Amino acid sequence: MAFSVDWLALREPADMAARDRDLLGQAATIAAGGLAVLDLGSGTGSTARAFDAAGAPDLKWRFVDNDPALLKVARESFSDSAQILGDLGDIDALPLDGVGLVTASALLDLMPHHWLSALAHRLRAAHIPFYAALNYDGNLLWTPNHPQDASITDAFNAHQRGDKGLGRALGPDSGVQAAAQFDALGFDVSLKNSPWRIGPGQAALHSALLDGIGAAAGEAGHRGVPEWTAARHAGVHHSLCEVGHTDLLAIPPEYGS
Ligand SMILES: C[S@@+](CC[C@H](N)C(=O)[O-])C[C@H]1O[C@@H](n2cnc3c(N)ncnc32)[C@H](O)[C@@H]1O
Repeated sequence: MAFSVDWLALREPADMAARDRDLLGQAATIAAGGLAVLDLGSGTGSTARAFDAAGAPDLKWRFVDNDPALLKVARESFSDSAQILGDLGDIDALPLDGVGLVTASALLDLMPHHWLSALAHRLRAAHIPFYAALNYDGNLLWTPNHPQDASITDAFNAHQRGDKGLGRALGPDSGVQAAAQFDALGFDVSLKNSPWRIGPGQAALHSALLDGIGAAAGEAGHRGVPEWTAARHAGVHHSLCEVGHTDLLAIPPEYGS
């Protein structure tokens, strides 16, 4: 599935505001240790910009993505970075030599259970920490409420669990599943909420989000999408939307000792 440069740019300020400060700070401290940082599904480099803002600039980024247009923007933003054009499906092929931290953002909910399990085992064997931010958690909440919000959310979440390229995606379960899988391998796991809180000042993001949710809910079989999206679009300048996410930091056992 493709993500446009425009959509990723539109969502980045909300992502920046939503990231859990404590986990981002801990991850940035690990990243500042001098080794390379491997960013999975990097897009245009949003995670790297978040680390910059958190006080960890000039890191040795390795960006992995299967979209050359997004990697081109990442290269323009981070001239010293390495860009790896490829599919994340082959966990054994991830270039972990010289890597001190693996990161991801807005990625885990696209991935299937077997992929997450393979990643956790590879990082456990390599003793590398993992920071994964902005994992959608299934919660959509609007104020004021519309009678179809709940059924649209159910249909959207069903769509999120569909195949996004590598098998049936974990969707809303990804954060909790990741926490459980890394914990079972002995990692010290922190999972924190990192919701978007979209207000009247973010109408462009809200509108684009409504279109995306409506399209997915329609594909999942919801028949009330046109009425719901029209009502919601009419309210973007005087409504609030909360989109639930989690951020995860997993530190391998005996890390740093
Ligand atoms: C929602 S975007 C997030 C991008 C970026 N991390 C951010 O936070 O802005 C998901 C990213 O994962 C990439 N992606 C999804 N599935 C992939 C796969 N199987 N192999 C490589 N990249 C993938 C997409 O191209 C996209 O850049």
